[in-house]
Amino acid sequence: LNYRVSRTRKEIFETLVKGLQRLEYRGYDSAGIAVDGPTKTTTDMSGNTICLFKKKGKVKALDEELYKKDSLDLDEELCTHFGIAHTRWATHGEPSAVNSHPHRSDKDNEFVVIHNGIITNYKELKEYLKTKGYEFESETDTEVIPKLIKYVYDNRESDNVSFSTLVERVIQQLEGAFALVFKSHHFPGEAVSTRLEGVQEKNSHNRSDSFSGINSVGDGRAVEYYFASDASAIIEHTNKVLYMEDDDIAVVKGGKLSIHRLNRRAGEDPVRAIQTLQMELQQIMKGNFESFMQKEIFEQPESVVNTMRGRICFDTNKVVLGGLKEHLKEIKRCKRLIVIGCGTSFHAAVATRQILEELTELPVMVELASDFLDRNTPVFRDDVCFFISQSGETADTLMALRYCKNHNALTVGITNTVGSSICRETDCGVHVNAGPEIGVASTKAYTSQFVALIMFALMLSEDRLSLQPRRLEIINSLRMLPELIKKVLTLDDKIKDIANELYLQRSLLVMGRGFHYATCLEGALKIKEITYMHSEGILAGELKHGPLALIDKDMPVIMIIMRDACYTKCQNALQQVTARSGRPIILCCQDDPEMTKNAYQTIELPQTVDCLQGILTVIPLQLLSFHLAVLRGFDVDFPRNLAKSVTVE
Ligand code: G6P
Repeated sequence: LNYRVSRTRKEIFETLVKGLQRLEYRGYDSAGIAVDGPTKTTTDMSGNTICLFKKKGKVKALDEELYKKDSLDLDEELCTHFGIAHTRWATHGEPSAVNSHPHRSDKDNEFVVIHNGIITNYKELKEYLKTKGYEFESETDTEVIPKLIKYVYDNRESDNVSFSTLVERVIQQLEGAFALVFKSHHFPGEAVSTRLEGVQEKNSHNRSDSFSGINSVGDGRAVEYYFASDASAIIEHTNKVLYMEDDDIAVVKGGKLSIHRLNRRAGEDPVRAIQTLQMELQQIMKGNFESFMQKEIFEQPESVVNTMRGRICFDTNKVVLGGLKEHLKEIKRCKRLIVIGCGTSFHAAVATRQILEELTELPVMVELASDFLDRNTPVFRDDVCFFISQSGETADTLMALRYCKNHNALTVGITNTVGSSICRETDCGVHVNAGPEIGVASTKAYTSQFVALIMFALMLSEDRLSLQPRRLEIINSLRMLPELIKKVLTLDDKIKDIANELYLQRSLLVMGRGFHYATCLEGALKIKEITYMHSEGILAGELKHGPLALIDKDMPVIMIIMRDACYTKCQNALQQVTARSGRPIILCCQDDPEMTKNAYQTIELPQTVDCLQGILTVIPLQLLSFHLAVLRGFDVDFPRNLAKSVTVE
């Protein structure tokens, strides 16, 4: 927002588009901008219209749209101007121009809003607003916000109600997580922004999703103000920033920034110190991380919360996956679950198979999509088939989906990409909400798929009386999960030391059983993918049927031995390994002297309920593969020969 300085509309576009381009690294599927339309005079902005430009796809496409002939006068100078822009990663509704932000209150664009986060009660609000005659144009959760502010504005008690009061009234009705910026032609030259990230994410080490109110100060007077969700969007204009807290309402009006608390009582304005960012642009984009994969590994305390947000009620122990609600009866009547995926997504199915069997009391098949098709597997109309895919575009998984549809089975998508082919073609589904994953080797998508499948098992077993103690145990453990993941991440230095000892090896075995077989497969896949070392995930129960021949004092072997139903059997495997002079690195529970005694090294992990433990055991292997790849000098984010999304059979 610029004050007392003239900017041409072209410069305004450039500033906004540049800001969006700086955020491209986060991944996005569409982008949009709102600016003021032609002014009557350069000083009087009342009666202006707001112009919206939205485009699916790349920021570049949006940029080109702005310069089309019939666009606004680019050379017009504006003394006071407030523009907003946004890149979207779809969570509700497919990527399209109409679903992208800014969203608007009505055809005249009286209020426009950009939003990061999720509104969990949007359906109720939408229903209510529809009864009041508001027409919705998108499938997004966000659209309720501009509609709601218009409703509040149209029903205001007097003409003196301020923009920030309207915003306060709106956000009191919203549930979920949000960082918002509002613009309105009723309040020209005024900006209002607010945020609520939710309790569970407080003290998060990674503030990249926090909205920051940021200003630049020149000659002691502010001439331009920026609001951004990420410092990289504005760092080329200023390094003076204020971090907004939950329930802060920031208002820029008459050239001044003020911040107050929601439900302000007199004299309660908070003081938010201006901080100076010392970082370089490149550094900010990846935070303090060397690669996107590393960043994504460290995002997991937040990404699992995002998967659960609005879906688990910890007071009533209810789990509701909105996308499956309408088909729940049909799912409950089915005879068999078939869970299909490729690569890491397949491993999420392996990881949760046992708990799915236990809580649904149904036979569960887990299938690699390619093999499932090769076998012309029999599928029946009373089967429910799950398709797990981060991208939602993997060709093999998509073909398997079409095959199951042809056999009249009910199809369920579990993806991280709204609007993807798998989302569109399945009967119903769950979006895992892990946020865009850029590193080719999947990390946070895996743990979110894992959590989503567990939530499905919990939802299905809600009315089974005998299963309630077990459900309760799992739900309580889900609540604690983000904290435990943070604890596991503190082991990074130790894992780096282990990587230093291993990185010149040619081969690495990962062994376990029960709930941890999937971790072995996934850990070995991570190692193969980015370090190019040979690695194999071995079911410890199969050790004596072959793999034992590989064991000697030189073969590095990682064993996963947690205190669960397989503990004693794993101890047997351990003895077989040590009896052949093997020197195992053991992932085990804290304070397990038996393990420390027999291991070459231990990585001690916090304990959780058995069926969730796999989330905590996979993270050390994600970290290990990352450090090994760095030490071996490879590009962690873009491994040779591999693609993030494999859209050919
Ligand atoms: C590719 C990627 C893997 C991924 C697999 C399945 O092979 O390199 O990391 O696990 O596809 O992808 P999807 O998007 O279907 O989960």
